[in-house]
Amino acid sequence: MKDVSIGIIGLGNVGTGTLSILAANAEQIAQKLGFRLKVAAVCSRGVAAKTLPEGFAGVFRTTNWREVVEHPDVEIVAELVGGTGAAAEMIEAAIVHGKSVVTANKELMARSGAEIWDRAIKSGINLAMEASVAGGIPIHAVLREGISGDRIVAIYGILNGTSNYILTEMEKHGTAFDAVLAEAQLLGYAEADPSADVDGYDARSKLAILSALAFGERITPEDIFVEGIRRITPDDFDYAHQLGYTIRLVCAARQTEAGLVLSVRPALIPQTTILASVQGAYNAVWVKGQFGADTFYYGRGAGPNPTGVAVVSDLMRVAREIRSGSPERVSPFAHERLGVYEPVPVTVQTRPYYLRFRVKDRPGIIAELAGILAAKKIGLEAVLQLPSESKDDLPFVITVEPSSEASVREAVEQMSQLDFLTQPPLALPMEGGLG
Ligand code: HSE
Repeated sequence: MKDVSIGIIGLGNVGTGTLSILAANAEQIAQKLGFRLKVAAVCSRGVAAKTLPEGFAGVFRTTNWREVVEHPDVEIVAELVGGTGAAAEMIEAAIVHGKSVVTANKELMARSGAEIWDRAIKSGINLAMEASVAGGIPIHAVLREGISGDRIVAIYGILNGTSNYILTEMEKHGTAFDAVLAEAQLLGYAEADPSADVDGYDARSKLAILSALAFGERITPEDIFVEGIRRITPDDFDYAHQLGYTIRLVCAARQTEAGLVLSVRPALIPQTTILASVQGAYNAVWVKGQFGADTFYYGRGAGPNPTGVAVVSDLMRVAREIRSGSPERVSPFAHERLGVYEPVPVTVQTRPYYLRFRVKDRPGIIAELAGILAAKKIGLEAVLQLPSESKDDLPFVITVEPSSEASVREAVEQMSQLDFLTQPPLALPMEGGLG
């Protein structure tokens, strides 16, 4: 069968990883496909200075992405630039020129993937985006094909490696958030501007994409409740451990009676749950199906090689579909068309909650807090206080029985006005149902 030629736009981490895998695995890829994947063109700002892998010396190089998209030999464009600006133009231009697209772009696909797919269908090209979520975990393939016969009930994920690295380092060494973040930045694990990672936005885009695949609805990042990890302290891990729990930035999508509830937030999870053993920069996705029950996927969420594998595998799939002339192009969203999502607020959920206070100590504090909880009909479960050096900034914890998040938020709002608090209370859900 005739070779398929590809054009690569973007030679950062992912582009470089992709190229080196294409070079190193060229023969094996040809054996699997029955034809070769050829790199016809590459584009990046600094392309002249790039050393391309052996065998790619003669590849057409340009700093103008349009020359890749319009290159007569290129049948698949790999958009590995990221962001929602130029990348959107590149994908649009590829579609207009009848080229299939492989992308690693979570932000763009979370925001406008459904519309891009609509245009891709109209122009008869294919669109693939495995690398957009949890780079090294083939979770799109799982949701799109592996378990597409099931009905998904819930997804729980650890989808941001930076946050998970920070939390698990805090847990292991008792180091404060700012210190671990600074160390992670020095080691190159965290960006100079860490907001997308530690405030939950990166994970939120990933959950938007996975939920669309799992539940067949057009879910955008704004539909998802988000809270980051900046307020978590080593004390919180000490208290969580006392309760048999740990803390992770949990991405959750659950079918409930009220509808699909979506959130990215730090939560207490039992130390015995498999998600609690996800350490460092690793990612994991736990899928609960109505028929197939639980399946769990674990691996590296980022990095040139794990993400490069996802891109190369997508290139192979799309190339196969092009050469087989199959009209049955597989939707990257696992559903040919996505339905409308009616957002359900997280305030409808009922959970036990962990409430952590820091106070200037004086008699009567617990009584006042308990009074507010009682007035909201929130049952108190336990009060924990570990030894502390400071009476001026004393931490302690109250856990409450399963209560609606709406009432817990009202109580916390009221408590925040109390003069003995040195900061507003921290309220985290306790996810007991994770196995
Ligand atoms: N910054 C992301 C993370 C990796 O920390 O997981 C790229 O999505």
